[in-house]
Amino acid sequence: MTQKPAFHLLRPETQLESDLLRTPEFEEGMMWGVPRPGHPEGMVLLHVREVLDNIEAQDLSPIDRRDLRLVAIAHDTFKYQQEALSHQGRSIDHGHLASSFLTQWEVPSRVREIVQWHDEAYYSWRMYKMGMAEDSVVRLTRLVERIHPWWSFFERFFQADTLTGDKDPTPLDWVNKWLPQVGKCHQLIH
Ligand SMILES: [Fe+2]
Ligand SMILES: [Fe+2]
Repeated sequence: MTQKPAFHLLRPETQLESDLLRTPEFEEGMMWGVPRPGHPEGMVLLHVREVLDNIEAQDLSPIDRRDLRLVAIAHDTFKYQQEALSHQGRSIDHGHLASSFLTQWEVPSRVREIVQWHDEAYYSWRMYKMGMAEDSVVRLTRLVERIHPWWSFFERFFQADTLTGDKDPTPLDWVNKWLPQVGKCHQLIH
């Protein structure tokens, strides 16, 4: 039997990774996408490979590595559903779609949470770029408050996800610059 592209390229390491990749949702989601700004590689599958390679390059405990791989495999898989819903006039972020899918699976809470909010730091930075400096920091603060027990886990994923394709790496520096000024959150994190 020929190996499916996702199995060949992503080389699942656990039963859970394999089971997820076998679902119709992951099979369809991994093949979605054409080359576009930020993602010259096109398909989600190829982006996930890059994220996994970046995770591999980090110095991680076995548990962090296992959980970050799960986040990587799930985080952008539901872009195809986000797009289909947008054609019906509905706006639901792919991270939220992925997170609600994962409620049917035994994954650690932090995996589901980071999948859900994975683009939130990027969205905050984008508001800043659009001239909404104050709102952008409020949004970043809300993110930190939501996920503060797992902030360093989030940062690791954010880095692995951002340093891919031809994405602008500026959001990484922007988050680092604003984080200490996020007041209350600063105490939560450091
Ligand atoms: Fe995303
Ligand atoms: Fe991504």
